[in-house]
Amino acid sequence: MAEKNDFTGLKLSEEVTNRLKEEFPTLIALATTPPDEVVRRCEINRRSAETAVLKARKLIGMSEPITAAELLQQRLIKPHLTTSSQQLDEILGGGIHVGALTEFSGSFSTGKTQLAFQLCINVQLSVEEGGLDGTALFIDTENTFSPARVAEMAYPFTKDPSLFLKKIFVSRAYNTDHQIQIVSKADKLIEKNEVRLIIVDSMASHFRAEFPGKDNLPRRQQTLMSHAEDLQRLSEAFELAVVTTNQILGNPDSLFTGESNLSPALGFAWGHRPTHRILLRKSRGTARIARIFDSPELAEREAVFHITSQGIRDGPPLDY
Ligand SMILES: Nc1ncnc2c1ncn2[C@@H]1O[C@H](COP(=O)(O)OP(=O)(O)OP(=O)(O)O)[C@@H](O)[C@H]1O
Ligand SMILES: [Mg+2]
Repeated sequence: MAEKNDFTGLKLSEEVTNRLKEEFPTLIALATTPPDEVVRRCEINRRSAETAVLKARKLIGMSEPITAAELLQQRLIKPHLTTSSQQLDEILGGGIHVGALTEFSGSFSTGKTQLAFQLCINVQLSVEEGGLDGTALFIDTENTFSPARVAEMAYPFTKDPSLFLKKIFVSRAYNTDHQIQIVSKADKLIEKNEVRLIIVDSMASHFRAEFPGKDNLPRRQQTLMSHAEDLQRLSEAFELAVVTTNQILGNPDSLFTGESNLSPALGFAWGHRPTHRILLRKSRGTARIARIFDSPELAEREAVFHITSQGIRDGPPLDY
């Protein structure tokens, strides 16, 4: 297989090769991008873009199917990202998966953002410690990223939390267009900084605000789908974990009686995009319950975790 960023194997003109290299840090990033997008980003003609994408796919062995046995082998060696709760990791099949989209939905204060912060710390740990030895990109659509709270969660690992804060790239997204742009331009940042986790907290807020009502639904779905595809592409091309949060629609009271009236926002079309969907609800005090409710390989199980001052944990804080 070709070296991941050896573009000379494409055997294209120097000018075209240079433009491709400027936009795409690796062959796999190029190979997984639709040709139209390559035309737009590199300002080359459609034929060159098609050739480049086809050749890149061939060079990295993407053109032929692989057997399910090989696929299993590839999956087995992929590390998982710990949530800091053994119970939650267990129902997730070892932790958050790389190469996939994982969605946490829940009403306010169910721990979506706290979990996201914890993952930004954990991704920096070694694989032996449950991390991915990488950095995080946090796309903040609600202006709720709190460096002080993240620092508090880093203290169990270090005397100097700034070491962890320096490896979390925070992009405040002001609207859907901005949110989409951050993701579609992320290739270089990811490659340069070894980003292994992308958080979108929350996926829903700008989309729901900017495309209200039934009339806007088709346009919203289309925009959302292409955004989801971009995220999926990054997760596979760079072997990283994507975690999105989502709001809940329905009667919040039913959180305490069952979830029959509740469903994550953004509708059915979006619902098919995350690989694993987890619903969070409040329990007593610091306890939260996570339930897997849609996954191609994980059973519908529940786990209890706690939000403590140190971060996500299996048990309640000692002074509780
Ligand atoms: N420093 C802290 N120590 C302990 N618990 C904390 C701390 N900071 C926040 N929490 C707890 O975390 C909970 C809020 O969780 P989080 O911010 O993840 O909610 P959310 O699910 O993202 O909600 P929203 O939909 O409003 O964004 C609150 O119950 C709060 O008490
Ligand atoms: Mg939140």
